[in-house]
Amino acid sequence: MARSETLRTLLRAWASGDDAAFLGAAQGLVEEERRKGHALLADGLEASLRDPRRPGGPGALALRPVPKGRDDRPLLTLGKPRRDLDDLVLPKAVQELIEGFLHEHHHRGLLSAHALKPRQKILLVGPPGSGKTATAHAIAADLSLPVAVASLPALTSSFLGETARNVEAVIRFAESSPCLLLLDEFDALATERSTPGDHGELRRVVATVLQLLEEVRGESIVAATSNHAAMLDSAVWRRFDEVVTFAHPDSRAVQQLLKLKTRGVDQNFDARKWSTKFKGASAADIETVCNDAVRLAVLDGTERLADGHLAAAFTRLSHRQDLLQHGKETDT
Ligand SMILES: Nc1ncnc2c1ncn2[C@@H]1O[C@H](COP(=O)(O)OP(=O)(O)OP(=O)(O)O)[C@@H](O)[C@H]1O
Ligand SMILES: [Mg+2]
Repeated sequence: MARSETLRTLLRAWASGDDAAFLGAAQGLVEEERRKGHALLADGLEASLRDPRRPGGPGALALRPVPKGRDDRPLLTLGKPRRDLDDLVLPKAVQELIEGFLHEHHHRGLLSAHALKPRQKILLVGPPGSGKTATAHAIAADLSLPVAVASLPALTSSFLGETARNVEAVIRFAESSPCLLLLDEFDALATERSTPGDHGELRRVVATVLQLLEEVRGESIVAATSNHAAMLDSAVWRRFDEVVTFAHPDSRAVQQLLKLKTRGVDQNFDARKWSTKFKGASAADIETVCNDAVRLAVLDGTERLADGHLAAAFTRLSHRQDLLQHGKETDT
């Protein structure tokens, strides 16, 4: 293929998310360079294509079609992981738990030689914006697994027995196609267990989910997230091999977050001062302020992030949160 055509194919494939076409065209490019005698360049390009850290790497592309519900709507959304562990600031204890979990998966062969399996089911609990979903994505990225997000409310159907079938289809999919199955906001379903009233079908569904969780086979990881640890009963906790508890960042973590989230520009601000201002804030809020401040610095033409940019971004966020709070109060 002529080089201009190869480049066109590459860009088209990237824009449309057609990974198979992208890989095909990229391999063509490698061969072209090799034919021209540019062995070093060809080797380098080839190594980049094979990079095992590439989130949802090439192995992830040949997945089976996702299961669909009665109305033909997909029960899962399949995508590449959107976060790396490097993007996160986590307390040491959480970091160690995650590393331990990943270590087992990296040594799956050794474990299996002793008839053992890595832990597979992980529950991530903590307040909003503390990094639960991001950590699930980072685990998937580290293991080059795609992320299959199941929206639990979407799985529920008014037809008798349909919901349990949907949930089973999702779990069977995860058993046959390696992925990280993300049951986000798991408490929405799990807490229904204890709800009195006419929720017979939902209770049966929860019982099915818990039972299916117990028996998950295959190489996939099941990650569930929840904001309400206290609302999940012991029957739920017991089904998970690992429970990780998240919290809002302490002063040191705030400083690390500020540095990390503004790494794209020169930093000229007093991180210690800002860590006091952000006391009790979520990592997500800190990220929002940093992104906003970086935009302001770039638009300033300075690309040098100063206290003034952070102050303006901080005021905007506080204003938004006040409006949100006010909205909630007038709603009630
Ligand atoms: N510990 C953290 N370190 C770095 N970034 C973080 C951290 N926690 C959250 N973020 C950032 O904040 C945003 C929201 O995080 P995330 O969606 O993981 O929160 P969550 O705990 O799942 O919240 P929710 O309970 O509302 O679903 C993401 O863009 C993520 O990168
Ligand atoms: Mg989340």
